[in-house]
Amino acid sequence: MRHLLEMDQLSAADLDELLDLCAPERAEPVLAGRGVALIFEKPSNRTRNASEMAVVGLGGHPISIRGEEIGLGVRESVDDVTRVLARYHALIGARVFDHRHLEQMAAVEAAPIVNLLSDMAHPTQIVADLLTLRQRWSKFDGRSVAWVGDGNNVARSLVLGCGLAGLSVRLACPAGHAVDPVAVDAARAYGVDVLETVRPDEAVAGADAVYTDVWVSMGQEMHAHQKEDAFAGYTVTADLMAQAAPGAVFLHCLPAHRGLEVAAEVIDGPASAVWDQAENRMHAARAVFQWLITQ
Ligand code: CP
Ligand code: NVA
Repeated sequence: MRHLLEMDQLSAADLDELLDLCAPERAEPVLAGRGVALIFEKPSNRTRNASEMAVVGLGGHPISIRGEEIGLGVRESVDDVTRVLARYHALIGARVFDHRHLEQMAAVEAAPIVNLLSDMAHPTQIVADLLTLRQRWSKFDGRSVAWVGDGNNVARSLVLGCGLAGLSVRLACPAGHAVDPVAVDAARAYGVDVLETVRPDEAVAGADAVYTDVWVSMGQEMHAHQKEDAFAGYTVTADLMAQAAPGAVFLHCLPAHRGLEVAAEVIDGPASAVWDQAENRMHAARAVFQWLITQ
């Protein structure tokens, strides 16, 4: 039984296969007559809607469940919740505060588990983002992706995903907010270059894509003031984008805060691929679910 908790559970060949499976015409009714449980301990727009529509696209029935309803590890043990849900559903997706809960769910081996975002990782986002880049570039070879901002869950999965895809990575994060060094080392072990700097201009110089995300992730609201100070100078502005490669793509997983991590003229401008990224969340979720169900 396969699970998708983080990108490093995929091989480069798995990733290739998944990106091919994102094509709508590759969808098969593998979930006909079956359910998928989608647990959300945190808010969601894209992931919930993309995942529910992905299940519908595979002929299945999604049931979204709020964290407080199911009380993962509080109302009922993580193992018991998993065992029970697996009696109704072919697959379980979960957005959790604590990544270890996903690991615990996967260890039950009762159903494939998909990480719909944890404090550590956001792999289904990165499958969608790599699809978005592949739709624009004929090949990944020789391309680079810059990350400007917080070395957060999305950044961690991005670094690993780029490593698998053979894309170089250029990270600009303030001191104390760097990407998990385990992910950086793993990407280097895949054979890609990873530049780490505190200077956005250095990371963006010549990059083919520039990616940013919120400075304050869900669950970190208590550190908001302190974080916003640390990120002064990390806004992706038109001036910063101008230092990237000609035709560079702007990426953001959304939700976005115009005037904080990104200037309105960038996210709403011609370089922005964010609406394609959002749509691709659905194609990526459908591919991930189909692939896991048919392993
Ligand atoms: N990008 C993303 O995961 O969005 P949501 O938090 O709205 O699901
Ligand atoms: N890093 C953000 C991503 C939201 C999709 C968060 O965890 O809130």
